[in-house]
Amino acid sequence: PQTPTAELIDEAREKHTAVAAFNVITLEHAEAVAAGAEQAGAPAILQISENAVKFHGGSLAAVTAATAAVARTSSARLALHLDHVVSADLLTAALEAGYGSVMVDASKLGYADNVRATADAVRRGHERGVWIEAELGRVGGKEGEPALDAHTPGVRTDPAEAAAYVAATGVDALAVAVGSSHAMTERTAALDHELIAALRDAVPVPLVLHGSSGVPDAEIRRAVAAGMVKINVGTALNTAFTGAVREYLAAHPTTVDPRKYLVPAREAMAGTVAHFLGLLGG
Ligand code: G3H
Ligand code: ZN
Repeated sequence: PQTPTAELIDEAREKHTAVAAFNVITLEHAEAVAAGAEQAGAPAILQISENAVKFHGGSLAAVTAATAAVARTSSARLALHLDHVVSADLLTAALEAGYGSVMVDASKLGYADNVRATADAVRRGHERGVWIEAELGRVGGKEGEPALDAHTPGVRTDPAEAAAYVAATGVDALAVAVGSSHAMTERTAALDHELIAALRDAVPVPLVLHGSSGVPDAEIRRAVAAGMVKINVGTALNTAFTGAVREYLAAHPTTVDPRKYLVPAREAMAGTVAHFLGLLGG
């Protein structure tokens, strides 16, 4: 059944575990997340990024309807979340579409502008009871952006600044830059565990790890034990999905019916979802 993000996050926090949030691009992605969550017997978050909405011609209504239908009919508890929202118009549309949670991404802006934009989004979201995540520091590797050097000042999240940011904006959760990067196809990221511990002590709201596809299993477990409450996974799903398509088409070069290769692709993705959920315990 469809379940509010805030409910899953609060529950995970109480149990000292985390909720995994999986990026949905196509209907098959949503179905694979539901299947993986059912296999693992765990809840999960279906998250749709602003880029995924753009891919579907900007139609938030279409992607939301399909994803929500999957969440409603699954036996797993699944939340719907809008991810990396930069456009003010998309935030308005999300609030009107009844999203329970949104990540507003003003991390490209300087500190003062990030605070201003995020505080405004939080005010608008909270008027409607919407849970808002925001980012301070910069998790690199986002679509259309140059790579970031994780050691440049302002890239990693500073604990004192994070505490001030959460107080000034009123956000419900904070995405932090602690060594992970988006869109990694190898799981080689090394997290700064000292920084995670310092952030957890400094910040009263749940911490969110973006770019978890590139983080090894043991590092994810350690990060969750140290207080990461939302673990965002996208690229690893696409690696599984596209790998299965590639394998199927190589073995069956005359196939034309997409269902032939989408079935193994969806199954491979569900396996990856179940794997990540298995890391979190709970
Ligand atoms: O917001 C989405 C995530 O941060 C996913 O990152 O594709 O590198 O796993 P990833
Ligand atoms: Zn992200």
